[in-house]
Amino acid sequence: LSTTEVDLTPIATGSAVTVMWRGMPIFVRNRTAEEVKEAREVPVADLRDPQTDQARVKKDNWLVVVGVCTHLGCVPLGQKPTDPRGEYGGWFCPCHGSHYDTSGRIRKGPAPLNLAVPDYVFNTDTKITVG
Ligand code: FES
Repeated sequence: LSTTEVDLTPIATGSAVTVMWRGMPIFVRNRTAEEVKEAREVPVADLRDPQTDQARVKKDNWLVVVGVCTHLGCVPLGQKPTDPRGEYGGWFCPCHGSHYDTSGRIRKGPAPLNLAVPDYVFNTDTKITVG
């Protein structure tokens, strides 16, 4: 399928799901208010791949990113609450130690770029279509 629909209803605040889109894992995380705050307090000029959190989301709490590390393509950890999420609370790539923040932005380690944001739309408040 060239598009993937995701029902957001079962994704509780603070949790995430992984769906597949064009053979790639897509991470959909329902961020806590604290995670959003952390993402927005970072001075953008300090970032390796400078992007505001606001430019990466369509609704404050929902973060949708391609779950492929921008270094050499491993799938970062951080989807399950028990996963290591790295030093910035987002995702940690165990292959060579890249740390992503709660906006999916690269903060430490060899990855050059933020986790990509795929094209997606909100069909309703509780459903998105990726692609
Ligand atoms: Fe993720 Fe190298 S593939 S750090």
